[in-house]
Amino acid sequence: MIGIFDSGIGGLTVVRALMLQLPGYDYVYFGDTARTPYGTKSPETVVAYALEDTTFLIGKGAKLVVMACNTASSVATDAVKRQFNVPIFDVITPAVKRSLEVSRRGRIGVIGTRATINSDIYRNKLQAEDPSVEVFSNACPLLVPLVEEGWLRKPVTTMIVKKYLHPLKVRQIDTLILGCTHYPLLEGIIQTKVGQRVRIIDSSVGVADAVKAFLEAHPDVDQQMGQTGQSKLYVSDITEQFTTIARTTLKENVSLELVKL
Ligand code: DGL
Repeated sequence: MIGIFDSGIGGLTVVRALMLQLPGYDYVYFGDTARTPYGTKSPETVVAYALEDTTFLIGKGAKLVVMACNTASSVATDAVKRQFNVPIFDVITPAVKRSLEVSRRGRIGVIGTRATINSDIYRNKLQAEDPSVEVFSNACPLLVPLVEEGWLRKPVTTMIVKKYLHPLKVRQIDTLILGCTHYPLLEGIIQTKVGQRVRIIDSSVGVADAVKAFLEAHPDVDQQMGQTGQSKLYVSDITEQFTTIARTTLKENVSLELVKL
């Protein structure tokens, strides 16, 4: 089984991307809806949660784990990789690689939660690969609650997106990384407001490509994944928002199970 976790609903965009790339595989998802958001918590707390989330998924039979949360990926990847003996994927590394491939002028924008932007992980990783790139970032703390509220097309959401993107637009970015797994649900508005010429990098698509490439290169691991087409979603609190967004994002009737970690 492929295990995926997020603080709540954002990781469903990663499940959607994985199901497109790897249809027929077995998936187990954990959304930590009781403790969301992670983006406003301290790094120590997010590391502790990420370790618990991974333990849960491995206990459910996951043989590979995707940390489908930029916040957890930015502060907890090393700790999770140290502790567990299965392949671990973060959402940041593939987004960095892809943005360096597509950026024409090396002017890369990053948006994410406060925790992700404060960690400076994207800047550090981008400039470690290519010191000449310029990185402009902006935390967008209001976007997660707007997505959770299902306000994906409201005028107020468009206004807020415009305001957050303005400082990046004036720096003439040519590429924009959606450094939060909630943001692909706002991709249309973001593309309109940042301008059609800016390439948008969706970290959920990048990590799905990376998992697919890894499984192709490691048939021994691939064989352990299970391909009966089953997916199970677990949450630490059953909320109306999660149920609605899970249905619209995955476009299928999802069954949810409540767990207490
Ligand atoms: N999905 C999370 C991320 O990618 C954001 C939500 C949260 O703050 O927990 O960072």
